[in-house]
Amino acid sequence: MCGIVGYIGSRDSQGILLEGLKKLEYRGYDSAGIAVFDGRKLEVRKSQGRLANLEEKLDGQPLRGYVGIGHTRWATHGKPSDVNSHPHTDNSSKFSVVHNGIIENYLELKAQLAAKGHQFVSETDTEVISHLVADLYQGDIVQAVQAAVRQMRGAFALAVLTEYEPDRLIAVRYASPLVIGIGNGENFIGSDIPAILEHTRDVYILNDGEMAILTSNGVELLTTDGNNISKEIFHVDWDLLTAEKAGFDHFMLKEIYEQPRAYRDTMMGRVIEGTEEGSLKVQLPEIGMTDEQLRAIRNIHIVACGTAHHAALIGKAVLESLARIPVETDVASEYRYRNPIITPETLVIVVSQSGETADTLAALREAKRCGARVLAITNVVGSSVSREADDVIITQAGPEIAVASTKAYTSQLIAFYLLGLYMADKRGACEQAQITMVLQAMQQLPEQVEAILSQANVLKQTAQALVKHQSLFFIGRGVDYAVAQEGSLKLKEISYIHSEAYAAGELKHGTLALIEEGVPVIALITQDELYEKTLSNIKEVTARGAYVFGVINSGQESEISQSVDELFAIPQTLPLLTPALSVIPLQLISYYASLALGNDVDKPRNLAKSVTVE
Ligand code: F6R
Repeated sequence: MCGIVGYIGSRDSQGILLEGLKKLEYRGYDSAGIAVFDGRKLEVRKSQGRLANLEEKLDGQPLRGYVGIGHTRWATHGKPSDVNSHPHTDNSSKFSVVHNGIIENYLELKAQLAAKGHQFVSETDTEVISHLVADLYQGDIVQAVQAAVRQMRGAFALAVLTEYEPDRLIAVRYASPLVIGIGNGENFIGSDIPAILEHTRDVYILNDGEMAILTSNGVELLTTDGNNISKEIFHVDWDLLTAEKAGFDHFMLKEIYEQPRAYRDTMMGRVIEGTEEGSLKVQLPEIGMTDEQLRAIRNIHIVACGTAHHAALIGKAVLESLARIPVETDVASEYRYRNPIITPETLVIVVSQSGETADTLAALREAKRCGARVLAITNVVGSSVSREADDVIITQAGPEIAVASTKAYTSQLIAFYLLGLYMADKRGACEQAQITMVLQAMQQLPEQVEAILSQANVLKQTAQALVKHQSLFFIGRGVDYAVAQEGSLKLKEISYIHSEAYAAGELKHGTLALIEEGVPVIALITQDELYEKTLSNIKEVTARGAYVFGVINSGQESEISQSVDELFAIPQTLPLLTPALSVIPLQLISYYASLALGNDVDKPRNLAKSVTVE
């Protein structure tokens, strides 16, 4: 994530940029910065941490000028620090850039520019852009930006300002959101509408491959190839709060719908072409372990809490089946008190969206104390977990605001798939063809999630029927059981309806006694190898009067329809990847159940987003 703003007009830009950034802090708050042309030169102020730190800096030394750009950062490349903060400049400090996204080939570009004498001060991918634009500049900033964009791969929304042409501000969009606000004698750039809503309700929403040239008096729109385009002005009639949720009623729903983007971003730059033609492989430069160390791992402990623990359960299945390493999972609050057996060949993986959960952090410290190497999967760069772990895979879910985790969980699944394939490759546990096949299937997941989201209305009806019940069950086998546990937790935490997740084969050992006429059972049945067995378990509950809602693979509707009362089909994928799809309908059912019951969806009772007490 990250948020960017820009202003050109006749008012002092500093206040306008800071106000815009305040509205974008939800997109990240690792650092903030602005660059303003003060009439003579570009001046930059930036500061690690929240926007308040930057404001404090500016209190003593304000920037005055009528054109500027600003940024609030969600760190991806390089830790949160003053020097890694945006805006970034070139060596002459004549060009400044703010960026939201990831430049996949930045190392390659950096090496080329360094060979020409460019000196870099930060660890970021963004700094490469300011140098690249400076390098290509021949008197026309628009042409320089277009030429730079042609060399860049990845996702980006950019605002570029040069002191050579302070009467123009350039905005470019490629797979990261960007809007242009149209004012009277002034114009604005924002990562989203709330950033500029105070000043104008008329906006252009840029599409991928489009750019805007802003002056005080107008906005010219063109493609990054240089062709002029015209666009309808979008008039915003939402209030500010609705705008912050991008038009969704709740952050949870917005975050559910952000999952296709989160999947793509978590894979971006990590799935690359292999050496054989048409093959794919995983690169994880963030893992510092040598191939020898990776091969020496004998067992893995995965430790996490709540939803992150449910991701760990899938992680176990993934690492065991792809990399063939024995894995144990633990809830973090238990791990350190059970005197775990850790040897020098044990790898401990901690999973935490926030990277601040006290139990997870304590487990991490215990593992390190016992001499284990710790790998973290977290969503927050600079969090305690990310600082203390030896290796860190950052999921690219972006800030998660709703207490109920959705996009962070599914991004953790993507991280596990990538890690499993990476380890399998290094340890020779999978053929190259199999790795390619899994990665190709993973690349289809974002679109498949979109297909599920397009059927949200069906799930809304299911949820409205479920809320009439006091209690319900989720069942499944294998990874379906792990997803059932996540579905059950999601429903409990925001609808307050009692539910239990059970391994489908285990019901008959006691819990079946609770099944009576009309009790809803949500049954996941996506694993080919376990199909017959799970179907028998479904029959056990229907025979006792349960009302069964099946989550199945598409293509099996007609054969399963006689065994269940209602069903929802997910698109076909590999059995190991189904959790990344099958959890989506469960998230939507929970959301709509909570909504139907009139609960505070984003802030459920008794819970907090980040649990920093043990
Ligand atoms: C449930 C939920 C929690 C968290 C748990 C761990 O929706 O979000 O169960 O998963 O509190 O939090 P993190 O991942 O921040 O360590």
